[in-house]
Amino acid sequence: MAQFRTAQADTVIAPSLLAADFARLAEAADAVEGAVDWLHVDVMDNHFVPNLTLGPPIVKSLKAATDIPLDCHLMIENPDRWAPGYAELGAYNVTFHAEAAEDPVRLAKDLHAAGSKAGLAIDRDTPVEDYLDILPAFDTLLIMTIKAGFGGQAFMPELLAKVRTARAHADSGHLELRIEVDGGIADDTIAAAAEAGADAFVAGTAIYGAADPAEAARRLRARADAARSSG
Ligand code: DX5
Ligand code: ZN
Repeated sequence: MAQFRTAQADTVIAPSLLAADFARLAEAADAVEGAVDWLHVDVMDNHFVPNLTLGPPIVKSLKAATDIPLDCHLMIENPDRWAPGYAELGAYNVTFHAEAAEDPVRLAKDLHAAGSKAGLAIDRDTPVEDYLDILPAFDTLLIMTIKAGFGGQAFMPELLAKVRTARAHADSGHLELRIEVDGGIADDTIAAAAEAGADAFVAGTAIYGAADPAEAARRLRARADAARSSG
């Protein structure tokens, strides 16, 4: 079967600004410049999740403050209405939740038309099977490895079954799909996520909770690369 596998994409490390000092976001971006691939921006609206974080004005400022591609993770209601605005602000990838979207495929098209990549996020209690058929419309699939809403929660290894399912589906269909994991990704959990088939890794606490965020990101990449190449 080896010849049917799609070429392995490079590992993506995406520090989550949720774990950074919100009064110093530009400094937090600078601290990981050169060591990471995307900056993960958690947008929470106090409705889809209880937490409230940031929105378009801060994404606009971040876009001006850093060259690191912005990976916006929208934990908001009515993404059909609000998500394209993030693409228009210059986000590299805009991910919205399957549980919140009215018409995910149309929204993916709207995001592409507005200039970003399109991501579909699957929360803790949502089966991935329901969405396999629409994955060709997306560039990224974000599988939560916690319940969405707060940083610093414990990684839930049982959720990696969804990563395995999605990876098998993507490889057999030759999809160019990144599979991103988010929640509790750290030195002791990233290898399991990589072995399950993830190739993009969000980490908040493990990077911004470290004394040297760039060094922490490099260490995570090394662990992910080792696990992916042995798989
Ligand atoms: C939570 C967010 C995550 C969060 C992860 O809903 O989507 O991106 O920042 O934080 P850690 O890495 O600390 O679990
Ligand atoms: Zn996130």
